[in-house]
Amino acid sequence: MKIAVITGASSGIGCVAAEKLLTLGYRVVAVDRNEERLVAAKNVLAERYPGRIASWRTDVADEKSVAELAGFVKREFRTCHALINCAGVFRGGLLHESQPEDFDIQMDVNVKGIYHTMKYLIPLMMGNETAAVVNLASLSGINGDYNAPLYCASKSAVIGLTKAAALDYAGDGIRINVVSPSATATPMFLNGSSEAVIDAFQEAIPDHRIGLPAQVADAIAFLVSDESIHITGHNLSVDGGLAAWNGQPKQDKEKQ
Ligand SMILES: NC(=O)c1ccc[n+]([C@@H]2O[C@H](COP(=O)([O-])OP(=O)(O)OC[C@H]3O[C@@H](n4cnc5c(N)ncnc54)[C@H](O)[C@@H]3O)[C@@H](O)[C@H]2O)c1
Repeated sequence: MKIAVITGASSGIGCVAAEKLLTLGYRVVAVDRNEERLVAAKNVLAERYPGRIASWRTDVADEKSVAELAGFVKREFRTCHALINCAGVFRGGLLHESQPEDFDIQMDVNVKGIYHTMKYLIPLMMGNETAAVVNLASLSGINGDYNAPLYCASKSAVIGLTKAAALDYAGDGIRINVVSPSATATPMFLNGSSEAVIDAFQEAIPDHRIGLPAQVADAIAFLVSDESIHITGHNLSVDGGLAAWNGQPKQDKEKQ
């Protein structure tokens, strides 16, 4: 049975991705910093998929904590076939009003967290015929977002880290890709956004839909599966077409 490690698995995209991989027959190690929520999510999934889900409290920003996670995976399963990095934090605000802590936490969780999990789990993937890493970046890592320079910087770094690492491990059969969602209906987006902001996203996204975590999980599942066996170093946007827009205003034919 294939082993998948999923960070940020107690909430949002990570939680839905954990269930998606369980439906595909994986044994899942659910990882999160929030122990209470993690245990609750694991218990729900354990009822539906008995014997196929384990959890391990980890702070991905902390190298020692990730090394302990890798030790657990090695002891229990000896190997790892899929690593899905969904742990992330968002701090908005103007650059000149931000604090160095806002910069540090986003770089530590969003970028260093992925560096840590790849550093400690890629060695457990080596020797498998195929293995895959999927890192969560964001549309905010492709171009700039108003009011979120530090988050954008962290997500651009995730894309760079993914592409470069993909080159180095392609020869080992380890594919490393990145998924970049736009607004997705999870606590991260919904809790921090007024109705007006949600409406504005819906207006701007070409298909006029806020993404669902299950739609992002489907993209993750594709990139983990052998159906994407020749795809590595790719950034897959899950965004209703928003990344295709260059930001120039829509021409309203009737007003011309
Ligand atoms: N929701 C969106 O609109 C959206 C859009 C683009 C990108 N993303 C990205 O998708 C990923 C998943 O986001 P989500 O929307 O599901 O958010 P979420 O807030 O619902 O889930 C994030 C999870 O990460 C965990 N986490 C945070 N810091 C951690 C740490 N140091 N160690 C371990 N776990 C930690 C949290 O406890 C939480 O369970 C994130 O990387 C986010 O930046 C989300």
